[in-house]
Amino acid sequence: MRAEKGDRFALLLSASLLVLCLVVILWGAFVRFSRSGDGCGESWPLCHGEILPEQVGIATWIEYTHRVTSGIFGIGIGVLLIYVLFFSRMKLQLRNFAIAAFLFTISEALIGAGLVLRGMVAENDTVERIFWLAGHLLNTLLLLYFLVGVVLQSKYDKRKLSFIPSRQFAIPLVAFILLAIAGSLASLSNTLHPSSDLGAGLAADLSLESPLIVRLRVLHPICGVLFFGLVIYWWKLLTLRFPGMTERLLWLVGVEVLVGATTLLMLSPLTAKLLHLFLADIIWLQLAGSAIVLSERDRLERFAGTLGTDPVGAGLSRG
Ligand code: HEM
Repeated sequence: MRAEKGDRFALLLSASLLVLCLVVILWGAFVRFSRSGDGCGESWPLCHGEILPEQVGIATWIEYTHRVTSGIFGIGIGVLLIYVLFFSRMKLQLRNFAIAAFLFTISEALIGAGLVLRGMVAENDTVERIFWLAGHLLNTLLLLYFLVGVVLQSKYDKRKLSFIPSRQFAIPLVAFILLAIAGSLASLSNTLHPSSDLGAGLAADLSLESPLIVRLRVLHPICGVLFFGLVIYWWKLLTLRFPGMTERLLWLVGVEVLVGATTLLMLSPLTAKLLHLFLADIIWLQLAGSAIVLSERDRLERFAGTLGTDPVGAGLSRG
């Protein structure tokens, strides 16, 4: 069988953009941790009304760097889209992934602008900010999902990968999104209402006097442990159908639970929470990648199963 050539330029560009995207995400979290979200005042996309601000304090520098790196990412995604639409010999699904990644980059920028213009930054702890936070995170995860789609699809010119995950893959993906939203609430809550020690933190979680965002943060560690159980169960089911599935996901989630527990016990030091967020993104990429590569095969095998046909005999080889 001839090896797949794919599209090397699209692969290189999208993989580089994926790395840049992770850097932008981590730096964005740092903007939140350092409460620098209002470092450019209320102007957007300019910073204090200027392209290059002159009065540069540390908060301005932090927020400005985030804007510049996300701007470079946005330009890169635009270049990728133009290349895929007009120059790549690979069409169809690669186009769909690239268009979706582009659209979610635009909405990411609009949400970022909305956060600044509506003052959902720095010390703001209103209920409205919780919705913005959840929306922002959901958008970021979908952007990563479709960007991984571009990376993977540009590797294969003969196999059409799945744009929409099959049901079996949708369950852990949705569970992850809910867990991550709860995590970012916990993170914001810890930044705005830090606890002096674990006991005081737990008492604040349970007190009706505490702000909603503090009372909700206890949900995340509980959901994190449940998610680990769900992933083990799901992985076992999956290996029955796709023998040879890597155990990497299980290890990653196991380590993530330990890092999460350490973050909690040490009252969220900067390095621990950045590592926790980084691992969460890697887990998402791993889940998204498996869903994109295996969903089509999953659907075809189920379809063949309902017809009582042998999937291999029906031409659905395990390629
Ligand atoms: C198993 C899968 C887990 C995933 C995928 C996950 C994911 C996340 C995410 C995405 C955030 C938000 C980070 C941010 O916005 O900066 C977060 C925050 C957090 N997570 Fe987890 N988490 C998991 C398990 C746990 C567990 C088991 C614990 C504790 C026992 C935990 C403790 C925390 C804490 C304390 C924060 C807030 C950190 C801060 O102050 O910024 N996590 N998590």
